[in-house]
Amino acid sequence: MTTEPRPDSDAIENLLREERTFAPSDEFVADALVRDPSIYERAASEDGFRAFWTDEAKRLDWMEPWEDLYTWEAPYAKWFIGGKLNVSVNCLDRHVANGLGDRVAYFWEGEPGDTRTITYADLLDEVCRFTNALRGLGVKKGDRVAIYMPMIPELPVAMLACTRIGAAHSVVFGGFSADALADRIDDASCSVVITADGGYRKGATVALKKAADDAIARTSSVEHCVVVKRTGDDVAWDESRDHWYHDLVDGQSSKADPEPMDSEDLLYLLYTSGTTAKPKGIMHTTGGYLAGVSATHRLIFDIHPETDIYWCMADIGWVTGHSYIVYGPLANATTGIIYEGAIDYPEKDRWAQIAAKYRATILYTAPTAIRALMKYGADAFADDDLSSLRLLGSVGEPINPEAWAWYWKEIGGGRCPVVDTWWQTETGMVMIAPLPGITTLKPGSATFPFPGVVADVVDEGGRSVPLGGGGYLVLERPWPAMLRGIYGDPERYEQTYWSRYPGRYFAGDGCKRDEEGYYWLLGRIDDVMNVSGHRISTTEVESALVSHPSVAEAAVVGRTDPITGQAIFCYVILRSGHEASDELGKELRTHVADMIGKFARPKQILFTPDLPKTRSGKIMRRLLRDIAEQRDLGDVTTLADANVVSAIRDQSGKGED
Ligand code: PRX
Repeated sequence: MTTEPRPDSDAIENLLREERTFAPSDEFVADALVRDPSIYERAASEDGFRAFWTDEAKRLDWMEPWEDLYTWEAPYAKWFIGGKLNVSVNCLDRHVANGLGDRVAYFWEGEPGDTRTITYADLLDEVCRFTNALRGLGVKKGDRVAIYMPMIPELPVAMLACTRIGAAHSVVFGGFSADALADRIDDASCSVVITADGGYRKGATVALKKAADDAIARTSSVEHCVVVKRTGDDVAWDESRDHWYHDLVDGQSSKADPEPMDSEDLLYLLYTSGTTAKPKGIMHTTGGYLAGVSATHRLIFDIHPETDIYWCMADIGWVTGHSYIVYGPLANATTGIIYEGAIDYPEKDRWAQIAAKYRATILYTAPTAIRALMKYGADAFADDDLSSLRLLGSVGEPINPEAWAWYWKEIGGGRCPVVDTWWQTETGMVMIAPLPGITTLKPGSATFPFPGVVADVVDEGGRSVPLGGGGYLVLERPWPAMLRGIYGDPERYEQTYWSRYPGRYFAGDGCKRDEEGYYWLLGRIDDVMNVSGHRISTTEVESALVSHPSVAEAAVVGRTDPITGQAIFCYVILRSGHEASDELGKELRTHVADMIGKFARPKQILFTPDLPKTRSGKIMRRLLRDIAEQRDLGDVTTLADANVVSAIRDQSGKGED
């Protein structure tokens, strides 16, 4: 496998030209979980759909059986009505009871090189101790708990302990700022924050406790802050509120009764960016979510839990980590890898060293990471033995065919199917993706909706666009892991997802279907950017900018970027008395990073005397996007002042990061 010459970009192009489709190999099919394409047809009818999800849910342990599979009063679905279960029991206790206590749940690797091997029995033990500790702090069913942690084992432990109690967790990605954390704590009135003194990132430490302190100071609901010691860095301490995790769990019993949860009880909140400055608290409930993520994880990643070593490289702070590092994989008794740090630190091939060390069989990552590795070249990991890999996954943004082919050829050695998985925080589970034992792949296409998922591509008027055409992606039939709402804002839920095409879920993505019915996702069609697979709202960045004393007005657009997919491009009008300069540009970029998080640091600030607006005063974003992309501007006659365009254009290219 490794004796083949590594192809350069010409060879990748040839690969794409000569071999446009990739059928599953006989070798892969021989062992695949799904080998019969009739699965799609069977799940298409209402009866078949019901049978499919009944079978999937029966794989879980229920404390009380459900009476009705689902009800749908658009836009509100309920699943497994009347059923009771506990997520932590399904992820841990039942596996231990089935004799799998010694199976490794996670191989964990810290960025500095420290490691831990955690079996299912270990994880259950730790979760129970922490459950008791949280109960000791007064946490009970229905409470909301904020979790703001690095990628350390205590993060899934904290999530699972919440599910054992029936408290909803709200995990906030460790890269978010104190302000962003405060907003999220506030929105859900979290009573407890679980954090760490810090985490490691590219050799430095990130001061999480400090950010948590700043956030808590701006909120009023937090009674306790639990702190895991990770870096040993000095932290400020409030005796009346702060507790070391290790002190709390010490001496706790390793038995803790799980709360019987109604299938429709809130499991967690996860905030995501929308088209306004205020993030949406996406609500996921218990039974449907768990059935949805375990089924999709098993079937799309072709999970063989006895032999697979599965590595999803996302951060648990995003939905990918919730569904496909924690809940799906643990429900399926999978052995996973969790890595704390940057995949290219301290060496470019750190990720490949880890994959080789643990003999990973499945990798799941984002196109932005693939493109970054592509830039380093395959030679960077030539010495790492990746022959254990048998399946590759992609998520978070459209994958360009070149990156797909490189992933397939260079990382997968030409033998691993690449499953491109389209889904969202809101969908909870993968909705469009191949089933690797039966789907013939096309580089750049997420292929087909998962069995039972009914998707369509429609035009402005909601009419289905025939194969070969493009439009807006909608989902027609409820699915078990779908969001149940936006926390505290049912109106926004209805407005955002269900008002454009009543009765149909509006995903906010453009999509094309080819003549064979393959889905090609085209990216967001609203004012949401996708930077390195992270959703960032243009308005959120605009409000961060105008909160700086020098800024009078700002307009933000996403510009195509070869590595990160999109990059943040900002047009800024300064208040009088402020001069445009490189220093100020830098200061503004840092200001946005401080307000939202480092991952939202703009790539470019363009100071401009004015912004193109329609006569009614609306900023012309399409035009700004075109300028950012340096595209032909087309008709600008609806502008209030056409000179603005040339003024902006003359400035273009200045102030780049
Ligand atoms: O635009 C789509 C893009 O990411 C958005 C969802 O972002 P988020 O909720 O943060 O979840 C990311 C991880 C599931 C979608 O609306 N997206 C996600 N996966 C793909 C994708 N675009 C194209 N292809 C994908 N495979």
